[in-house]
Amino acid sequence: MSKSSARFVCQECGAVTVKWAGKCETCGAWNSIAEEAPRENAPKGLGGKAGRKIEFVGLEGQAAPVPRLMTGIGELDRVAGGGLVPGSALLVGGDPGIGKSTLLTQAAAQLSAKHAVVYISGEEAVDQVRLRARRMGLAHAPVQLAAATSLRDIVSTLDVADAPAVVVIDSIQTMFADTVESAPGTVTQVRTCAHELIRLAKRRGFVLFLVGHVTKEGTIAGPRVLEHMVDTVLYFEGERGHQFRILRAVKNRFGATDEIGVFEMTDAGLAEVLNPSALFLAERRGNVSGSCVFAGIEGTRPMLVEIQALVAPSTLSSPRRAVVGWDTSRLAMVLAVLDARCGLALSGNDVYLNVAGGLRIAEPAADLAVAAALVSSASDIPVPADMVVFGEIGLSGEVRAVAQTELRLKEAAKLGFAQGLVPAMPRKGKGPVATGALGIRPLGHLQDLLGL
Ligand code: TYD
Ligand code: MG
Repeated sequence: MSKSSARFVCQECGAVTVKWAGKCETCGAWNSIAEEAPRENAPKGLGGKAGRKIEFVGLEGQAAPVPRLMTGIGELDRVAGGGLVPGSALLVGGDPGIGKSTLLTQAAAQLSAKHAVVYISGEEAVDQVRLRARRMGLAHAPVQLAAATSLRDIVSTLDVADAPAVVVIDSIQTMFADTVESAPGTVTQVRTCAHELIRLAKRRGFVLFLVGHVTKEGTIAGPRVLEHMVDTVLYFEGERGHQFRILRAVKNRFGATDEIGVFEMTDAGLAEVLNPSALFLAERRGNVSGSCVFAGIEGTRPMLVEIQALVAPSTLSSPRRAVVGWDTSRLAMVLAVLDARCGLALSGNDVYLNVAGGLRIAEPAADLAVAAALVSSASDIPVPADMVVFGEIGLSGEVRAVAQTELRLKEAAKLGFAQGLVPAMPRKGKGPVATGALGIRPLGHLQDLLGL
């Protein structure tokens, strides 16, 4: 390849190809490949020049404990692993309009009570950001605000001895490095800008928040190309029509992943939801067939959610399968097990599955709750309104034990549930679990569910 020939870069995953294609071979995204200017400094050999000798040290040693910065927003602090680590970079990704700027404005305002905080917006004018802050009643917070997109300007401003403690960049896709020929938002630009800002954060010891839009069209580089560069990746999710927003840690060098924070979008910004189970169940109507309460665990927290299924006769030759909040292939597995092991054939029916409230469940422990909702809808017999369900289903139809049984049951008891449909098999090496006030109905095989 000659040095001046063009490069084609997938704007979703960053894969480089020599010619354009409609679909990225690496990540499978459609229409995501765009031409970018060739990289100017192609890697060269090291040459004869000797480098500096690296000094090695042992594993043992004193690492001074880093005091973390607390935002005062409990849900955010917990998802970040117990506060923010100075010198670390956090990527906050999410769909446009989901509330990233709102969350970070609130966090910036809270932090500014004790620390110097800088908020750099590349998307909105200063007045727009001020207007938002005023709406949320935060106009008096001493946050330093600027509208800027030039990486060079930002780095020169922040590369000083008295650098702020927290820097918010909203968003990384609007930043522009004049050393790179590509347009803002392309993979090369986003990577270059993020790289420089992260290096600066490490050198000056400030907490760096990078906002990144997740895109569908692939016209702007997805935050996925940044995930490996930052210390912490937080995704802000939720259905646009719902007021609930979920902040999920998918990578965290300083804490547990899979931790989630739950917020509610209100007129005055995002409010923390301290008892998500109560919220997710708030609109549940008892004694309806096809509805079942799943006792799940999100990160370290138990969370009760309603799973709704609708099984309806289909006129289509390949019946419809629509899933919101769960994995489609997992639903196919549960349906196949119901058919092959329990004789409940739903292949001629349309099946709709919905996790109420806009939560997305990834746990296999939801299998049994999904199966119960399906069986309930198909038979038109309601699952008892005071029952919670959890358990993993194996391919032979056996109900497998899941982790954190006690925690799930305790949360259910706290919210007034009286019985639990749970796996009969105890977890290997574990004794019987304390069930508290709950009546337990152990289930060994999915077949037994149909007899209930
Ligand atoms: P925003 O934080 O601008 O989204 P993002 O930065 O992720 O693109 O949030 C935009 C949405 O939030 C917008 O639809 C209006 C809504 N919103 C409220 O409902 N209440 C509020 O107090 C604020 C500030 C925004
Ligand atoms: Mg925004």
